[in-house]
Amino acid sequence: MNASYKALLFNGNCITCHKTDNLNKSAPRIQEIQNNYKNAFPNKKDFIDYMSTWVLNPNEETSLMSTDIKKYGLMPQLGYDKTTLEEISEYIYDTNFDN
Ligand code: HEC
Repeated sequence: MNASYKALLFNGNCITCHKTDNLNKSAPRIQEIQNNYKNAFPNKKDFIDYMSTWVLNPNEETSLMSTDIKKYGLMPQLGYDKTTLEEISEYIYDTNFDN
């Protein structure tokens, strides 16, 4: 799958809540998520596996950002398949969102 399709998936499904600026007060910025997950999983494959599994089934037990659950409430289940979520997670790993 090419990079622009992955960008489309992310921009279509995640950025409404996970913006790159500070204007959204209902969910953490995508950069915060990227930082937390890269700290926990510097290895790209581990990052993709953990994130796609979590987004498939959001839950407090395996959250890396439980203070954000307290702050915003648990992220809703979105109903995307695992393969799509792996593509999106790879895009999140690879992208510099500060540009
Ligand atoms: C309707 C709003 C909404 C949408 C859409 C959304 N999220 Fe979230 N997400 C949240 C909120 C709120 C949190 C913070 C609370 C939490 O961690 O559950 C969050 C947290 C996360 C986390 C951190 C999980 C943790 O360890 O706690 C990841 C990873 C994540 N989102 C990925 C995604 C991806 C990938 C998409 C697109 C496929 C997406 N989100 C779409 C609202 C959303």
